[in-house]
Amino acid sequence: MFETKILGTDEKSVRLAAELIKSGEVVGIPTETVYGLGADAFDEAAVRKIFAAKGRPADNPLIVHVSAFDEIAPLVIEIPELAKKCAEKFWPGPLTMIMPKSNRIPLVTSGGLDTVGIRMPSNSTARAVIRESGCPIAAPSANLSGSPSPTTAQHVFADMNGRIPAIVDGGACGVGVESTVISFEGDGIRLLRPGFISVEDLKEVTENVMVDKGVLEMLGNDVKVSSPGMKYKHYAPKAEVTIVDGSSMQFNEFCKANADESDTLMVFTEADAEGLYNRKIVLGASDEEQAQHLFDALRELDVMGAEKVYARCPRKTGVGLAVYNRLLRAAAFRVIHI
Ligand code: TXA
Ligand code: MG
Repeated sequence: MFETKILGTDEKSVRLAAELIKSGEVVGIPTETVYGLGADAFDEAAVRKIFAAKGRPADNPLIVHVSAFDEIAPLVIEIPELAKKCAEKFWPGPLTMIMPKSNRIPLVTSGGLDTVGIRMPSNSTARAVIRESGCPIAAPSANLSGSPSPTTAQHVFADMNGRIPAIVDGGACGVGVESTVISFEGDGIRLLRPGFISVEDLKEVTENVMVDKGVLEMLGNDVKVSSPGMKYKHYAPKAEVTIVDGSSMQFNEFCKANADESDTLMVFTEADAEGLYNRKIVLGASDEEQAQHLFDALRELDVMGAEKVYARCPRKTGVGLAVYNRLLRAAAFRVIHI
């Protein structure tokens, strides 16, 4: 058991966080997407502590974070040409690229795979902690396995109090959903997890962008998944969430006809719930605002003790696809199409 300290983002705090990481401990760190649980990616014992703190299955690989492009050469066998182009365009930023791993990355870190996901975060505190630690940092989202990803240090504290020695509090995350995860196939890109870097953005690098089946479908137990994270239960609040796919007016009419007084509504704007007197959570009108608020909203549902929730269906383009992908999992793929 630790007494979990909350650190700031000043030089002294960054140095302390780096010292903990260098000594084989796990630290909560802010990134532009969500908070991560960081440890030395080369240190097997430290990486095992991450899995233990989260209760994460050992076959779900961790993303390795670097502070500069040069740092990736020792981690991989080869950097695909398309990866170089994507790095130039989107790094530092919310994009994770899967590449064939070198022997320097322990199998514990890669969940037993011969590939590794690498990302250079744009959050300056995250990069300062990596630089100061002097090693690449393996970091999954800092939630307990199965819970919504944390977008504030308070979320991390709620899940990790006593399990890790420290959390660096860098304020609320700007993006709010985890990084876009891609792999490379021939001269194409396969999207494994949508994020702030959208399909449309990736198409500026190559027209050949495939969206993996696992992004929008529930995969059967017998299907070989492209990314282990796809097969696990995710983001689930205690409430039963149902997505209602329709316009603002259709959502409104559906809820008037079907929602009980005690049900909670998750909407873009107040207008979606006009004339309804249910408890509401408002995510915001734009895809970006919805991404920023989604995980906080999912945690809030538990705090409120919500039992049944009707959520307006996010857009399926741009950053909206990332919001939809997360909400689908929170809703256990329950969608009513109008
Ligand atoms: O924004 C983010 O990516 C955050 C911050 C902390 O950087 N991290 C994050 O990590 O979301 P995590 O572990 O919660 O999600 C990583 C996802 C998992 O679904 C995992 O299965 C997939 O990426 N992944 C990691 N390495 C992979 C690999 N080598 N091949 C396929 N999928 C991989
Ligand atoms: Mg996660």
